Amino acid sequence: MTTDSIFLIGLMGAGKTTVGRHLARRRRAHFLDLDHELEARTGVRVPMIFEIEGEAGFRERETRLLAEVSTQRNMVVATGGGVVLKPENREILKHAGIVVYLNVLPKVLYERTRRDTNRPLLQVADPMKKLEELYEQRDPLYREVADLVIDARSGAVSQLVAQVEKELKRCGN
Ligand code: S3P
Repeated sequence: MTTDSIFLIGLMGAGKTTVGRHLARRRRAHFLDLDHELEARTGVRVPMIFEIEGEAGFRERETRLLAEVSTQRNMVVATGGGVVLKPENREILKHAGIVVYLNVLPKVLYERTRRDTNRPLLQVADPMKKLEELYEQRDPLYREVADLVIDARSGAVSQLVAQVEKELKRCGN
């Protein structure tokens, strides 16, 4: 069994945490969600980090944690949707393991996230428009770092996990 780490990337609501948890169990790997880890370390939720330190402060914490996690082996890491924004993070991801992009279109993401209050970037008048803008801006960045692009718009979690596993196998993992 390979010990290469897997990094799940994609927009908010793409299913990184859910898929990551299942995948980690199946691969007997350690699961880590970057946002949850930041929350555990700071003792506050993500919106509070944004409020106190601004998005820039949050991004610095995110980069430091990503760099730390990237040195570990046999991990499945669910990243935050904005992790690809910094070139520095993209470089880390490219060398840290296998990067899997869960690609989901904005309309579906909107349905999945519309009742969520823990995502500061979506607490705006028109979250659908925001998701469309984020998709346009970030889809190329996700693709730049991804080893695998998975169409994750529908299907049960188990199906999605099986699909990721199949694709991983196909590229020797
Ligand atoms: C963000 C996504 C969030 C979290 C923060 C910023 C983003 O993570 O890191 O609210 O910029 O897309 P999820 O993708 O897990 O929701």
